[in-house]
Amino acid sequence: MTPPSRTGSPAIEVVDVDVEDTDALTRWSEMLGTAFMEDRPDPTSVAHRRERLRGQRLRAGAVEGRLVASLRSFDTELTLPGGRLVGANAVSSVAVLPTHRRRGLLSALMRTDLRQARERGAAVSVLIASEAPIYGRYGFGAATECASWTVDADRARFRGDAPRDGGALELVDAREARADLAAVHDRVRRRRAGELLRDEQWWNHTTGVVPNPRAWGPRSRTVLRRGPDGVADGYCTYTPAESWQGRVSRSTLTVHELSATTPAATRALWEYCTSVDWVRSVRAEDRPVDELLPWLLEDPRAAQRSGQDDFLWVRILDTAAVLRARSYRGAARLVLRVHDDAGPAAGTVALETGAGGAEVAPTDAAPDVELTVDALAALLLGGTSATTLARAGRLQARDEAVLARAADVLGTGEAPWCATSF
Ligand SMILES: CC(C)(COP(=O)(O)OP(=O)(O)OC[C@H]1O[C@@H](n2cnc3c(N)ncnc32)[C@H](O)[C@@H]1OP(=O)(O)O)[C@@H](O)C(=O)NCCC(=O)NCCS
Repeated sequence: MTPPSRTGSPAIEVVDVDVEDTDALTRWSEMLGTAFMEDRPDPTSVAHRRERLRGQRLRAGAVEGRLVASLRSFDTELTLPGGRLVGANAVSSVAVLPTHRRRGLLSALMRTDLRQARERGAAVSVLIASEAPIYGRYGFGAATECASWTVDADRARFRGDAPRDGGALELVDAREARADLAAVHDRVRRRRAGELLRDEQWWNHTTGVVPNPRAWGPRSRTVLRRGPDGVADGYCTYTPAESWQGRVSRSTLTVHELSATTPAATRALWEYCTSVDWVRSVRAEDRPVDELLPWLLEDPRAAQRSGQDDFLWVRILDTAAVLRARSYRGAARLVLRVHDDAGPAAGTVALETGAGGAEVAPTDAAPDVELTVDALAALLLGGTSATTLARAGRLQARDEAVLARAADVLGTGEAPWCATSF
């Protein structure tokens, strides 16, 4: 695809990069590294990148034959409220050289990728945004949030009624325990709206089987938890940092990931982190906003929320498919008008929710609720209330009663959560 050149500017060409072509992959990595402030690629890092990206779609924007922009995408699955999975196109490695920014390169790459994702039948595209103002124009909306926590380990005593079941903890090598970790995550992600499928490459890359600078790292440790039946039901990967003030420890423990299929396993892993000798403070990022930890503690203020940010951005490509697939709270009929300048999600649909699931059909009826596709993404996983969007002017409801009904049926009992970086 070659968009028309701006007057006096050379044309932009969107080309596919073959990961098996070492020269092309090196040039793509060089360009990506410049935009992402990374080390220059060498043959080893290019070989590792190939292992990691094999099977994914690497696109580049070329100007006069030179690669100046990149976008990578691959197929995954997104969990919707209720546990149904939809096909998702994950977008990453979005970068444009500083010499070629604001000439429409990202827009050209994104248009091509979204069109092809739709043609392949993906219901959504997803990404993690470096900066919030970039992706709304392409129809993406922030759909999950993550919280950061700092825990005072000395004050973190667990309540007597906090779930406990007599399981066991074992320190493991994450690379060797990959299958157990992946099995736990797969059970977790199938139940949690907002979470994504992680493939073999993701685990190889993150645990360090394939070396990469963003892996959990050589000082990280992984503790695996087994339930009373001996089946792995949780894990935590963390990195301790030793520090002393005189002869008093000020050491910290940073949680990279804590994932568990049961509340008892969640409690056991948090209790482990806060009771490692020397550790005074535990830090964790990318946690669910409805974290259990403070509710498990005698002193909830021992766990301080130190931040909250958007995480997964969703671009709905097939409105009917996602509305049909997710669950709702109660029975209702709502006519939704979705505005989507770029096209695929636009239209007016009647949504009928009930005990047996949801029916979605095109309609000419007047809308009860009107919103843009990025606002619908914020509602899709239950992370934002229709009331909040209406108060912010991002959603128009026919009247307050309709708004209350929309907020009720679209709400969920658990916050959506995605902890999968890609
Ligand atoms: C973000 C980035 C990819 C944008 O690429 P680009 O080719 O300059 O983007 P385009 O020229 O296609 O811009 C399209 C529109 O987005 C806007 N835009 C682009 N980057 C933006 C930013 N960081 N903040 C706000 N608006 C931005 C442009 O102004 C333009 O607006 P317009 O359509 O109203 O004219 C590029 O600046 C970059 O590589 N940044 C560093 C790496 C990065 O952050 N990558 C994203 C990782 S998720």
